[in-house]
Amino acid sequence: MKLLNVQLGDRSYPIYIGQNLLSDSQLMSKHVTGNKVMVVTNTVVGPLFLEQVIQSLEVGGKHVDVVTLPDGESHKNLETLNAIFDGLLSKKHGRDTSIVALGGGVIGDMAGFAASCYQRGVEFIQIPTTVLSQVDSSVGGKTAVNHSLGKNMIGAFYQPQAVLIDIDCLNSLPQREFAAGMAEVIKYGIIWDNEFYQWLIEHRREIQSLSSEHLISMIERCCAIKAEVVAQDEKEHGVRALLNLGHTFGHAIESEQGYGNWLHGEAVAAGTVIAAKTALIMQRISLDEFESIKHIFTSYGLPIVKPVDMTTSQFMGHMAIDKKVLAGQLRFILPRGIGHANVVSGIDNRTISDAIENH
Ligand code: NAD
Ligand code: GLY
Repeated sequence: MKLLNVQLGDRSYPIYIGQNLLSDSQLMSKHVTGNKVMVVTNTVVGPLFLEQVIQSLEVGGKHVDVVTLPDGESHKNLETLNAIFDGLLSKKHGRDTSIVALGGGVIGDMAGFAASCYQRGVEFIQIPTTVLSQVDSSVGGKTAVNHSLGKNMIGAFYQPQAVLIDIDCLNSLPQREFAAGMAEVIKYGIIWDNEFYQWLIEHRREIQSLSSEHLISMIERCCAIKAEVVAQDEKEHGVRALLNLGHTFGHAIESEQGYGNWLHGEAVAAGTVIAAKTALIMQRISLDEFESIKHIFTSYGLPIVKPVDMTTSQFMGHMAIDKKVLAGQLRFILPRGIGHANVVSGIDNRTISDAIENH
């Protein structure tokens, strides 16, 4: 088992990465301070892993209740969030309860947000079960639900007590979801680590055939980068914004297409290609680097073009309420070569439309 740490003073926490962790009763119970646990999961993940999780927690002496939410991004909203509060209140969970998020990024973001505000804040543990949530969303404390006018617009920064990443969960993940998670993995290579980017190209076959050794190395590298970034800039006043490469365009695609129609990772992949095209126009990357970015996404089964019928003005409309808008100015994360990126503002609208229309 690998162990990393997110260093945030008295809110620091461990990330465990390995196999067979869900059956490890000692580990599962170690980060639950009180005796009561509310597991939040959904109708797809529950039947796969809930029994194992309940058993491990009960062997560890914990009383376990469960809230099972409907599955999918289209349910990531305030109404579904309320079902978590209904469950907690009706089962009389107090401030000493722990919430366990068992699922992908949607469950992690919603359970984390519920933990941040239930009785003004209770502890929570992340057990991410998708590639995306294991490499990104479970680490760093961003929690949120969507609003019909914008993605992740209602939420809080709220760190978990621990993150337990069991790669065995990935065996049941549909291929399309696996690919979507790889968009966030590739993101780390582009913004932070050229060597890792090259490793992803070199070891694609092993990764796609779920070699445990390669998956553990890959997840460990992503979590290490994320932990480093979050430790430097927990609330996204600076470097953390780089983790949003492709997300400004991607969130516009998700919002316009209806939540869940394009997977988050798919929208991020196409959004990253638009960001890379912007960078190419601004001579921040070479044509070879632009082609390489398109090629790596395609090779991992991801889209590299925006939805055919989506117009520049539709992009602009959604992007105007992006969380990175500062003093009315749109800011974009743009690569500089492969392995570095910056936050760039003041780009003229013609460059942005050109990138949207001709990537
Ligand atoms: P998801 O949670 O919807 O999971 C994808 C699908 O896979 C769902 O149908 C889910 O039920 C199913 N599933 C989960 N684990 C499974 C397993 N082991 N086997 C079979 N099926 C399984 O989506 P996601 O891609 O994990 O997360 C996307 C969400 O994460 C978005 O809402 C996005 O905004 C958010 N996100 C948050 C952060 C953050 O920092 N908080 C970062 C990136 C993305
Ligand atoms: N996924 C972006 C972040 O955590 O900041």
